[in-house]
Amino acid sequence: MTVAIHVENLTKRFNDLVAVDGISFDIEHGEIFGLLGPNGAGKTTTLSMLSTILKPTSGSAAINGIDIEHDEDGVRKSIGIVFQDQSLDEELTAWENMDFHGRLYRLAAEVRKQRTSELLQLVELEERKNDIVKTFSGGMRRRLEIARGLLHHPSVLFLDEPTLGLDPQTRNHLWQYIATLAREKGITIILTTHNMEEADRLCNRVAIIDHGRIIALDTPTNLKDGIGGDVVSIRTPNPEAIVASLNEPWVLRKEQHNGEVTISLQNAEHRISTIVTALNQRQIPIESISIHKPTLEDVFLSFTGKTIREQEADHKMNMRTYQRMMRH
Ligand SMILES: Nc1ncnc2c1ncn2[C@@H]1O[C@H](COP(=O)(O)OP(=O)(O)O)[C@@H](O)[C@H]1O
Ligand SMILES: [Mg+2]
Repeated sequence: MTVAIHVENLTKRFNDLVAVDGISFDIEHGEIFGLLGPNGAGKTTTLSMLSTILKPTSGSAAINGIDIEHDEDGVRKSIGIVFQDQSLDEELTAWENMDFHGRLYRLAAEVRKQRTSELLQLVELEERKNDIVKTFSGGMRRRLEIARGLLHHPSVLFLDEPTLGLDPQTRNHLWQYIATLAREKGITIILTTHNMEEADRLCNRVAIIDHGRIIALDTPTNLKDGIGGDVVSIRTPNPEAIVASLNEPWVLRKEQHNGEVTISLQNAEHRISTIVTALNQRQIPIESISIHKPTLEDVFLSFTGKTIREQEADHKMNMRTYQRMMRH
């Protein structure tokens, strides 16, 4: 049997910018696969190529064995898409939005009716089916979009930042729907996110993407285990001094970024007093110190030297510089 999604050396250039830079991976049927990375990493561009919205510059990909460049219609039939820009008709009811979409896919009236009812139940919107979308909360809209994306029974679902802008409770709720879809319906899901918790909690495997390249790909557990122990974060006015002075063999990794030093070590709770004493002796001030188990943020940091948030701040700044240049 072919894999659900096969991607080989996929690349997209926009003039001088390489937005997606030769990525490769395979996704098994029924997997929830996450593309985790900061804004501007190339996540949406990747999904756009896989869903035949954008043509790749080079490389290839196939969905259920169907090549994205040779059979666009075939690919579109086997995928459901929920992209970032909301595309529901605000003036129509939930039911009408579904029905309209079903007509686009040329589903027979009976089939439309049955599936709409089934899917609205699945995302718990059955009771609101006759209300216009304008009255819906953000979470309800996202659920409706997911239901709509499933109307033609795709075997693969693309979700671009599915919980962006939702409150934590709604986000949790949505994670449950997504997990259920994969588990009970066997739907393969590829989603993008810059939320580490989302990638960690929801995905079977995660590809960490930065500047268009996959820098790590594994299960969340394996990625975090790769850090090799606990993480201690020290906030200080003098990070260089800490990096220079902590040379003990049990310091497995040290990273300095934005006034903070992050070090990895085994059994951090037993080392913390040693660290504090050592820094006191060398008169290096500590503003705060904390211990935690590794997160995917630590994984990102260990590969790039920056946190996802710091990387996003850089991207924003570059975009501003670029826009300023374009204006002058
Ligand atoms: N149509 C386009 N034309 C030019 N540059 C683009 C276009 N779409 C995206 N980009 C650029 O490509 C890079 C990747 O963008 P995108 O895939 O949207 O990232 P992400 O979804 O990870 O935030 C960014 O630097 C973005 O500005
Ligand atoms: Mg995006």
